[in-house]
Amino acid sequence: FPDNDFLRQLPKAELHMHLEGSLEPELLFQLAERNGVALPYASVEALREAYQFSNLQDFLDIYYQGAGVLQTEQDFYDLTWAYLERCAADGVVHVEPFFDPQTHTERGISIATQLTGISRALADGQAKLAISSRLILSFLRHLSEDDAIATLQEALPLREHFVAVGLDSSEQGNPPEGFVRVYEMARAEGLRAVAHAGEEGPAEYIWQALDLLQVERIDHGVRCVEDPVLVERLIAEQTPLTVCPLSNTKLKVFAKMQDHNILQLLEQGVKVTINSDDPAYFGGYLLANFIAVRDALDMTREQAVALARNSITASMLSDDEQAGWL
Ligand code: HPA
Ligand code: ZN
Repeated sequence: FPDNDFLRQLPKAELHMHLEGSLEPELLFQLAERNGVALPYASVEALREAYQFSNLQDFLDIYYQGAGVLQTEQDFYDLTWAYLERCAADGVVHVEPFFDPQTHTERGISIATQLTGISRALADGQAKLAISSRLILSFLRHLSEDDAIATLQEALPLREHFVAVGLDSSEQGNPPEGFVRVYEMARAEGLRAVAHAGEEGPAEYIWQALDLLQVERIDHGVRCVEDPVLVERLIAEQTPLTVCPLSNTKLKVFAKMQDHNILQLLEQGVKVTINSDDPAYFGGYLLANFIAVRDALDMTREQAVALARNSITASMLSDDEQAGWL
């Protein structure tokens, strides 16, 4: 039964984390004051108390509202740097975070402002904390594909700052098949591809992400169990699933952690990883997610080691870079 220090010391990569979801209430209030943004909450405590969700959309409403305090390059730096400091404390050696450019361009903040702040912090993370990183630009699936294409086109001059595209936001009713063209354009530019699928949406959306968007990883993917043929394929192709245990319980994908299927998938041979998704909103960073799974599901040391190794081998690091952590 792995103790907390054992879990902390395992070299781990985090492959599913939205930078806007690491905005802690304290920093959110600081940035609101710095930028003269009025908040509908009287205090940090009142804001935290609002973090009770019954589904994904409940969460997204408050998450997009919170992101409204992010305005300057320095704000994006501070957000990213605070996350990297948490990673260092948790024994995270490599990160592949998402950012949601449309959340900010809608408010008049350029992708250049966002990306220069994020990239400067990621460079400092490498230099000062020895945490390597690859950034993923994620499209909002509740907006149109044309909006996603315009976003990609605005970002392409800053191509050196990100390595992949992703797809997030409200899943049900916004299937991957609506984003085939923008993924084709991204892949033609040499970008890699991942997508959220099978969090609240059906297994069919996972098939679409694989076959139509040609993604190399599925974000969440826990509803794959509803389709045994799909599970067989995920095992055969060793397609990684970036699973987010605390997120899934906070958003009622599983009623309680004891019901979570991550270790069942691991034992079946699916390449699952543990991730925090939106740690400021869901009650913890990467180590807290490992601890929650251990406590609820009696994870063994061997399983913890396998999950940590999966996070490295499912990453976008080169084989040589991965070898240093295995
Ligand atoms: N799912 C969909 N969209 C999101 C999530 C998520 O878990 N987190 C932030 N945006
Ligand atoms: Zn997510």
